[in-house]
Amino acid sequence: MNHEKFEKSILRLGIAVAIVISFGGLAQILPLMYEAQIIEPMADMKPRTALEQAGFDIYIREGCYNCHSQQVRTLRAEVARYGHHSLAAESVYDRPFQWGSKRTGPDLARVGGRYSDEWHRVHLLNPRDVVPESNMPGYPWLAKNLVDAEQTEANLRGLRMLGHPYSDEDVAAAAALASKTEMDAMVAYLQSLGRYAPKVETLTQTATGGASE
Ligand code: HEC
Repeated sequence: MNHEKFEKSILRLGIAVAIVISFGGLAQILPLMYEAQIIEPMADMKPRTALEQAGFDIYIREGCYNCHSQQVRTLRAEVARYGHHSLAAESVYDRPFQWGSKRTGPDLARVGGRYSDEWHRVHLLNPRDVVPESNMPGYPWLAKNLVDAEQTEANLRGLRMLGHPYSDEDVAAAAALASKTEMDAMVAYLQSLGRYAPKVETLTQTATGGASE
């Protein structure tokens, strides 16, 4: 009997199992390979400016993602709190994407424009100055460190090779960042979050549609 040959030889069984599993793997992996072609940037969407991109890199360096997600889910409570649910196309220029899942603090996908630049500065220096019960750590060094302009320029070049549509002027603009602090970059980045979120009118329609269920 054929299956006896497999059951009595660990090598044969192992190879057969690997073949079967790899079909499952292909079914999961192949569609993902085409995802980059399927998900197009949104209309009029531009990659981040040099200053915002520097802020993005600092966000990752400081590990903000350990406490903050950037993905509004489609659940009603989330949409009511944060705004329109996140679309995959909104994060085509995030490398790596910051969807996350850990929410010690609120989701930040729509935080741009919610507070003034000054609020963010005070909050990042010492969160308890504006939110007394906050357990977010302060990041006072951001106000002292200057942006690494050379590194940012190199990053923009790298991102351009990966398909982010940066012009030569955009890349050159990075050189002008040398006088900016990391705080300037972080605030610019935070204010850019949610820039391409679908409009609130669409949200109201969704909400009304849902309420009539
Ligand atoms: C230990 C967890 C933790 C870390 C790390 C953390 N945060 Fe927070 N964050 C919080 C909590 C909790 C709140 C809610 C209280 C408050 O506003 O301070 C918050 C609030 C915020 C808000 C206000 C959001 C809103 O909608 O009100 C912003 C903006 C923010 N954090 C940015 C950052 C940035 C940028 C970093 C990294 C430099 C960071 N956080 C790191 C926990 C954290």
